Amino acid sequence: MSTATAPQTEAPLPKPEGLEGVVAASTALSHVFGEEGKLVYRGYDIHELAGKASFEEVAHLLWLGHLPTSSELADLQSRLEANRTLPQPVIDILRLIPADTAPMDALRTGLSALGAVDHKTFDDTPDLDEAIAIAARFPGILAAFFRLRSGQEPVRPKAGHNTAQSYLYQLFGAEPEERHWKPLETYLVLLADHGMNASTFTARVIASTQSDLISCLTGAVGALKGPLHGGAPSKVLDMLNAIGSADNVDTWLNNALDRGDRLMGFGHRVYKAEDPRAEILREMARTASDPDFFALSKRTEDRALELLNERKPGRRLYTNVEFYSAAVLAAVGLPGDMFTPTFAVSRSVGWSSHVLEQVSNNRLIRPQSQFVGPSDKTFTPISSR
Ligand code: ACO
Repeated sequence: MSTATAPQTEAPLPKPEGLEGVVAASTALSHVFGEEGKLVYRGYDIHELAGKASFEEVAHLLWLGHLPTSSELADLQSRLEANRTLPQPVIDILRLIPADTAPMDALRTGLSALGAVDHKTFDDTPDLDEAIAIAARFPGILAAFFRLRSGQEPVRPKAGHNTAQSYLYQLFGAEPEERHWKPLETYLVLLADHGMNASTFTARVIASTQSDLISCLTGAVGALKGPLHGGAPSKVLDMLNAIGSADNVDTWLNNALDRGDRLMGFGHRVYKAEDPRAEILREMARTASDPDFFALSKRTEDRALELLNERKPGRRLYTNVEFYSAAVLAAVGLPGDMFTPTFAVSRSVGWSSHVLEQVSNNRLIRPQSQFVGPSDKTFTPISSR
């Protein structure tokens, strides 16, 4: 049997691990300035928007390119409201999912079910109406599963709520308090888009094949759930719970690093300075979360940064968005397994904006691979193997 490798007749192509530094698309939507620790949505620094703009204003900015006037905002809000109710067959499908299924998996299934149930709406080339219709239903899919898994019936969305209010209302079945929906709204603003991250790239690759919008977003949900991307915040909560008290921080972190574990909520492919969203979320956590929990989070962050700097000199590892997302979302009343799905509620807007941008000037995304296997084997019939 020959073990010859492929003949090297082709000039080797550059092959950065993990596509680091490769430009995969042009976008006017958002950009991460990694050296400066700056995030921009359509020209606005995230500090310009967080705590000032509503999530719907930011959605309008991303989808349509400018901050809305009052009448444009009212129009978008009514279009979102008109699309919030889930088709009954989608609820029926969510009812069949085992209660111990991770909510991200339920979201992926619910979203895919929406595409199948309502295929006449979502089968065309992706457009803004579809983007709005899908984003409006992300909270409902999650809330329906959240309630069904504990034996409660889904709650129908109520008129007059914004996205953050509607999500909490559909989850808990009670009028949300401002101290909960306001921080959630700022969180949704902060997470709405983030350059060419893994899930956005996934959505754009699927869009580039001229597939439908539900397929693009279902793929993106799958990419987001991994712990190296959006799956980290519940693991941050697990880490803080395992540490338990300030006097255990050093031992716990050193043991984890000795084992070669990654510390969840630290490091980033692009940021080589502090993630600006982490800075904003830290201040939100300081006021919104339980003081003891915040103190433990801060102590853990400070020591983790010192230890990472000592053990990985020159790597420039800083706190990322996920670390204080955990404290903020817990303060809003969400359990750990709803953290990443809540990230998806926000990012659904960024994903669909990228899909619309991709289809407006599309070329199939089809990279190369470097072939490292043999290429000259001959077939042996099964009787002779
Ligand atoms: N803890 C410990 N070491 C780390 C961490 C971390 N959190 N992050 C990076 N490193 C180390 C790596 O071990 C590596 O060291 P080495 O070269 O000595 O082996 C070096 O830093 C570079 O790491 P890479 O894996 O090459 O960095 P990459 O850019 O591929 O990864 C990532 C970025 C995945 C975010 C990484 O920092 C990580 O795993 N962080 C923890 C998980 C996390 O917080 N995920 C959320 C990311 S934010 C988001 O997507 C919304």
